[in-house]
Amino acid sequence: MASSPAAARDATAPFQPVYLHQLYRDPAPEPLPFVRREMLFFCRTLKWCVLGFIFLASFLVLMWIIFHPSFPLLNVSSASMSPVAFTASAASAECNITFILTNPNHHLTALYDRMEISLLYASQQVPLSNFHQPPIVQPKRGQTTLQANLSFSGIDLGGGMVSAMKQDLDRGSLGLTIKIFSVIKFRNGKWKTKSRYMRAYCPGVSFGFVSSNKSGIFLNPYQECQLLAEDVKLHEIESLIIEDG
Ligand SMILES: *[C@@H]1O[C@H](CO)[C@@H](O)[C@H](O)[C@H]1NC(C)=O
Ligand SMILES: *[C@@H]1O[C@H](CO)[C@@H](O)[C@H](O)[C@H]1NC(C)=O
Ligand SMILES: *[C@@H]1O[C@H](CO)[C@@H](O)[C@H](O)[C@H]1NC(C)=O
Repeated sequence: MASSPAAARDATAPFQPVYLHQLYRDPAPEPLPFVRREMLFFCRTLKWCVLGFIFLASFLVLMWIIFHPSFPLLNVSSASMSPVAFTASAASAECNITFILTNPNHHLTALYDRMEISLLYASQQVPLSNFHQPPIVQPKRGQTTLQANLSFSGIDLGGGMVSAMKQDLDRGSLGLTIKIFSVIKFRNGKWKTKSRYMRAYCPGVSFGFVSSNKSGIFLNPYQECQLLAEDVKLHEIESLIIEDG
């Protein structure tokens, strides 16, 4: 006759009381239901995703704070102008302008393409002369002094413009404007921003003339220029290069 294990124990072991709670105790913890396990896995993944996202976001914000470029500052620090000579329809004068270009960035080198600096007769926005500044690489927090020879000689303005300029000189001052155009980008090691157009506009570059045969006196030193940035499209750069060539 087959004996049950309980019966065998009863035969060999001395009598031991068996309590009800021992009989009904779970032998092993019951496995979690499938849905709960899924939920737990999902929650853990979500937690890591959120932590990862927060980490990445703070990293990007930090990089942005450190590296986002501030645009350069430009001042006309000094300027000189010889007496202006006129013919019936043309004007000529020597003109030297000194600019101070500042890269305000602590972590970025500024790269300026060739700069085109133009002098205009302010009241009529007529171009008088152009100067081409070779490309500049400006270190972090760098300050560069630019000397532009904006002399004009025998430039044909037409009779009307010449008489307007003469009138200004007789009144004692000549108002000029400077416009600058370049392409700028910033660099930190191998990391570079995309190229942007840099346009600067320096209004109110005025000279006082005590007499028509004396040099002009620069009336507003440290005149600040307004700088504007615009994104450049690649084909536009190419067309600029082709135009230059
Ligand atoms: C402009 O600069 C040149 C050389 O730097 C100088 O010979 C000339 O006299 C200057 N002209 C004026 C108007 O200051
Ligand atoms: C400035 O430019 C004019 C004409 O563009 C030229 O005749 C003159 O020699 C230049 N002056 C200097 C100092 O380079
Ligand atoms: C400068 O102009 C004044 C009058 O405007 C004249 O008396 C003087 O002779 C001129 N000087 C020169 C060197 O041309």
